Amino acid sequence: MLAVIGGSGLTRLANLDVSRREVLRTPYGEPSGAVTFGSIRGRPVAFLARHGYGHTIPPHEVNYRANVWALAQCGAKAIVSVASVGGIRADLKPGDLVIPHQIIDYTWGRKSTYHDGHDSQVTHIDFTHPYDPELRAALLEAATAAGVAVLDSAVYAVTQGPRLETAAEIDRLERDGAGVVGMTGMPEAALARELSVPYAAINVVANYAAGRGESRDGIRFETLDAVLAEAMGRARAIIEHLARIR
Ligand code: HPA
Repeated sequence: MLAVIGGSGLTRLANLDVSRREVLRTPYGEPSGAVTFGSIRGRPVAFLARHGYGHTIPPHEVNYRANVWALAQCGAKAIVSVASVGGIRADLKPGDLVIPHQIIDYTWGRKSTYHDGHDSQVTHIDFTHPYDPELRAALLEAATAAGVAVLDSAVYAVTQGPRLETAAEIDRLERDGAGVVGMTGMPEAALARELSVPYAAINVVANYAAGRGESRDGIRFETLDAVLAEAMGRARAIIEHLARIR
């Protein structure tokens, strides 16, 4: 079963033929909301809204451990994250879709591992390639099949939020090699790796990052919703095609 974690702008999958919703309990507390189970063109898909169905949970308070655990527990063989980002790289503009290939984690204080007990062996995961290469390839193939243009790589910088960045912080992220910036990519990706569930992401560029392009003098929130609403339609089309091939 394919699982999708939807971020800002994607609190439900319109093309999901819903069969049931289930509130799952985990040893790590409650997920952001009920998991919605259903099918897309006959293929089973589960959906979870990262910020809750009413979009009330900020990035630093999302229970990433419970979310990823719940999806793994109910049989997810792959998790696709859909997350909005700010565009840092000059070739990225609002509305663009990107399949990121790398992560730099600037978050702090988040519960970022399942291995923090003192009753088990110290455990390290390999995280050289944070996104599952095969799932990334499948996403790119699905995008082609759906006729949706995507950029095929970007380094995703994960900031703590919930505030947006300063212009100087964005300059620093760019010097570090980041192409996009968001607030939710970590620890989600690492937790999926800890549970050996292939994980990849579709990033939707909602705005120019602080100090860039039309955000030179500030980020204008009025335009974000419209950009996301349109672009999420294209992200859904990719997921629909992915469900057919996974
Ligand atoms: N910064 C961080 N997270 C974001 C942004 C941004 O500019 N846009 C959407 N999510």
